[in-house]
Amino acid sequence: NIPQLSIKNNHLHMDGRDIVEIAGHYGTPLYIGSEQRIEDNVREVQQAFQKYHANTTVHYAAKAETSLATLEIVHMAGGSLEVNSGGELYKGMRAGFAGKNIIFNGVAKTEKEIESAIVNEIKAINVDSPFELERIVETAMACKKQANVLLRIVPDVASGVAKGVETGTHECKFGTMLEDVPAMLHYAKEHEKWVCVRGFHFHIGTQTYHLTSFLESLQVLLEFAANIYKEMQFLPEIIDIGGGLPIPYFIDATASQYMQPSIYQMLRGVLTTDEIAEAVAGKLHAYDGIFKDCELLLEPGRKIVGDAFVMVSRVENKKYRRAMNENWIMLDAGLNVMSEVKNYHWYFPMVCANKITEPHMYPVKIAGPLCESGDVWMDYDGHKDLPDFRMMPESVTVGDYIAMLETGAYGTSMMSRYNGRPMAGVIIIRKDGSLFMAKKPETYEDLLTGEFSIAE
Ligand code: LLP
Repeated sequence: NIPQLSIKNNHLHMDGRDIVEIAGHYGTPLYIGSEQRIEDNVREVQQAFQKYHANTTVHYAAKAETSLATLEIVHMAGGSLEVNSGGELYKGMRAGFAGKNIIFNGVAKTEKEIESAIVNEIKAINVDSPFELERIVETAMACKKQANVLLRIVPDVASGVAKGVETGTHECKFGTMLEDVPAMLHYAKEHEKWVCVRGFHFHIGTQTYHLTSFLESLQVLLEFAANIYKEMQFLPEIIDIGGGLPIPYFIDATASQYMQPSIYQMLRGVLTTDEIAEAVAGKLHAYDGIFKDCELLLEPGRKIVGDAFVMVSRVENKKYRRAMNENWIMLDAGLNVMSEVKNYHWYFPMVCANKITEPHMYPVKIAGPLCESGDVWMDYDGHKDLPDFRMMPESVTVGDYIAMLETGAYGTSMMSRYNGRPMAGVIIIRKDGSLFMAKKPETYEDLLTGEFSIAE
């Protein structure tokens, strides 16, 4: 069900190119992505929402996959950008995004970051607190330029997704409670030469699979905004409902037998972008139509890149534990390459890319190379919600390639060099079928970048 993937000669292919051949050529671990898929995903979200609310803009959340080439592909597809640091802003501008197409989020923006957002005349800085609003005004005065902002509110709605990725309740660090927002608007009015409040923002979490979570949050925002309109005649020009558009992760038959229904529902989801768009627009057009001309902003990350990449690694060791009757294989990719399995119990299907049609499968435990017991491709924390083995061909052995599917979101961007492991490269299959090295696979030399020897 992943459109760009296919099978030919017992090998996994992406956009018609042989994954095994690419991995053999560039070395593993390696991320391989599809330009076509990224572009299609941007267009799909744009079109789904514009069908119900023409004035919608899609700001791709750069943090999900921050390679320059991916940012450029999103830009060429007509997407805008959401950034969360001065570094992402810098890369976004290098990729060709104009300031007016960039939104800047964050709970601890530095003065330097605020300054570069103002100087580059970005579309909006999403303000996290009353204190930060004052800081933005001071910085704007120093730059002699007005700052555009949205106010990030706390809708106090749980997204019902894994702990650690809830971002819209009062227990989370993000945003301003509604009770403090009127004072911020008064303050902004007094300093209107330096700050322009263009509207409101919330982001309730990633992979939000309950439609009600989006709708309840939007209702909180719109009811509040309608009151503010009555009391202060302030009408938002922009309403930004954040990211979190869910993707229906592929779950193989074995995993779905073992997985708790709640986890299955979260990952597999069935909520489509179209359903969200229709419901969101419906709410936006209620309230006597006062918000019907507002620009609607989305900040999807996972939805744009999640299914557009696979991560390929190579089997480097195997063992049989007789006492437990367990077969293990060890890969050259661990949590240093893809940390989400451990962090959030995210489940990614794994296939043997060079033996994909082999009929005889058996259960194996799969581990990464790090000197950590937790570096295993299974749920090792005693949670019984994921199977602790994968089905692999009986002949799986050293030198085979294991591809982990749908690893485009928060994989490459959260890599580390732990254990002296050079970071994986990123190859993108262009629309014409050619291969583009978006990020060079690192070498040992790269491990010394920016380090100094005491002896020299
Ligand atoms: N906007 C804001 C303000 C965000 O904080 C995020 C993600 C997004 C948009 C994009 O959310 P998305 O559409 O990708 O769900 N590493 C974690 C996810 C961290 C999400 C961080 N914020 C994981 O893989 O579960």
